[in-house]
Amino acid sequence: MGKQYERVEACYRRVLEQVDCLKGNSPFVPQVGLILGSGLGELADEIQQEGVLDYRDIDGFPLSTVSGHAGRFVFGYIGRMPVVIMQGRVHYYEGYPMEDVVLPVRLMHRMGAKILFLTNAAGGISHKLFPGSLMLLTDQIASFVPSPLIGANEAEFGTRFPDMSEIYDRDLQRIIKKCAMEQGVELQEGVYIQFTGPAYETPAEVRMARLLGADACGMSTACEAVAANHMGMKICGISCITNMACGISSKPLNHEEVKETADRVSGEFKALVKASVAAIGHEVSSKTTES
Ligand code: HPA
Repeated sequence: MGKQYERVEACYRRVLEQVDCLKGNSPFVPQVGLILGSGLGELADEIQQEGVLDYRDIDGFPLSTVSGHAGRFVFGYIGRMPVVIMQGRVHYYEGYPMEDVVLPVRLMHRMGAKILFLTNAAGGISHKLFPGSLMLLTDQIASFVPSPLIGANEAEFGTRFPDMSEIYDRDLQRIIKKCAMEQGVELQEGVYIQFTGPAYETPAEVRMARLLGADACGMSTACEAVAANHMGMKICGISCITNMACGISSKPLNHEEVKETADRVSGEFKALVKASVAAIGHEVSSKTTES
């Protein structure tokens, strides 16, 4: 058994010991893993909760150090969909190796999640995006951060050379776009690029990112999607554009502005994420009844 797989197993055993709803004859099995980015944290408090577990109670789990990021798993239902929510994620810039950064995603998969719903705050590079815009991820550039798959391949997770031709699942994108339309939410689409952070990009780096085809930039998400894709999860993601990336607007960037915008649009963002997860659940259950 591979080293990372063993770590995930150990964390999973610890989770099972501590979360009541995961035990018993008909244990709660999450179908969707949802990672909440800046401004979205409260969503976890608005769902039908079945259980909660602080990350610090899981031995070997990397702990987030960013202010405003709570650190816990919340188990519960959005609509009829059983979900495990990460209220707070781990970032590469906090100093953790990539295998630690993606351990939570691997753990959610181990808990049963077949779908990964990623959210984040990002800087807008495309001229179609403005502070407060929401962007559905259609693809990503992860080449500026180390791959979480470097090292001996652990076959328990997936194959050595995984295909990445459709990281963001087309069906999930279709469902989310339909929900946005129904809610009257304007939803842009685009390519996300991950940089390491923690410094914001320079104007020259943002010009480079635009030339490479990126529409928005951030410091998370792409590595998580790589690890999830490796395990065969279906993935979708939405960015909240909290600011124009450096040099696109002449304003200097700061974390306060990012938090302010994230809070301002959080109502709309939360509603879209909740409706989308519920709609995904609806589609999954109608497919199961059909077959
Ligand atoms: N760059 C990187 N990460 C971010 C940004 C940005 O401009 N805004 C929010 N997260």
